[in-house]
Amino acid sequence: MKRVSLTQYLVEEQRQHNTIPAELRLLIEVVARACKTISHSVGKGALGDVLGSAQSENVQGEIQKKLDIISNEILLEANEWGGHLAAMASEEMETIHLIPNRYPQGEYMLLFDPLDGSSNIDVNVSIGTIFSVLKAPEGMGKPTEQDFLQPGVKQVAAGYAVYGPQTQLVLTTGNGVNCFTLDREMGSWVLTQRNMTIPATTREFAINASNARHWHAPVKRYIDELLAGSTGPRAADFNMRWIASMVADVHRILNRGGIFMYPADARDPSVPGKLRLMYEANPMAFIVEQAGGAATNGVKRIMEIQPEKLHQRVPVFLGSRDEVALVTSYHQK
Ligand code: AHG
Ligand code: MN
Ligand code: MN
Repeated sequence: MKRVSLTQYLVEEQRQHNTIPAELRLLIEVVARACKTISHSVGKGALGDVLGSAQSENVQGEIQKKLDIISNEILLEANEWGGHLAAMASEEMETIHLIPNRYPQGEYMLLFDPLDGSSNIDVNVSIGTIFSVLKAPEGMGKPTEQDFLQPGVKQVAAGYAVYGPQTQLVLTTGNGVNCFTLDREMGSWVLTQRNMTIPATTREFAINASNARHWHAPVKRYIDELLAGSTGPRAADFNMRWIASMVADVHRILNRGGIFMYPADARDPSVPGKLRLMYEANPMAFIVEQAGGAATNGVKRIMEIQPEKLHQRVPVFLGSRDEVALVTSYHQK
């Protein structure tokens, strides 16, 4: 079989669909290269002084792992000099990151979760990187946080890398979802799955069930019905998986279907769920929709939410279309 590299894919995609101009191609290639570097650090584990806590806290009050910080640095450094970006934002930085004056400023804006699934780093379970690409608003001067606050439908590209038994990169530029596998010997990304498609129905769900006592009524009802199995209202047995790395859970769903949920709950009404809209929920929603699935906050499409804050959180229900529609309908009742 003829191998198609990431670069070849991007060039041909531009030729056929005109969706990846040269600057965007550079951006995607630079992010992919940074993910290769992160993958290398992740793979060193105890041999590379990359495990454990960094003894610092991010803006969300979470203890940072060394790899959270290393991955953030790798992405910043890789993306500063190319001239393709106007600014960056990250889970690990309170405010936006401007491109230093010594480099030209481009027209794209990049958001990322440099290391997703941090609790899994030290136990050698799959983790990942998530990214979202927006365009700078017309006539933007010096970028501000406000310029980033665009709904997910404005994304021009989104993707994630998953660092598991294999390192893979899953990408959409709004024309389907494709998966590239890192050839570790050659150091190159090779197209291994075209047009990933999420089956509309599923018998598998993912939720952190330890929060069950805090769930709101629609989520309780939905999960109770799944758990009731073949003798319950759904008349089918459902299986459960929870990796605690959104990237890995979403990757499973892209490959064989499923529904992933991180709902808001009754603990603190000022904290709507755990996941962040701009660099977790939106890019994953874009990918999932492009693969034929759906993504809502229980009430509306995630990608139609107008963001108010860079680090705002959002309830997430995504994956196989029919199940997302059902749990969403329970919220609307
Ligand atoms: P991060 O490591 O970037 O903070 O994200 C972790 C997120 C997400 O990846 C995962 O689905 C969820 O947190 C796990 O939450 P629990 O700890 O409740 O299982
Ligand atoms: Mn995350
Ligand atoms: Mn993270």
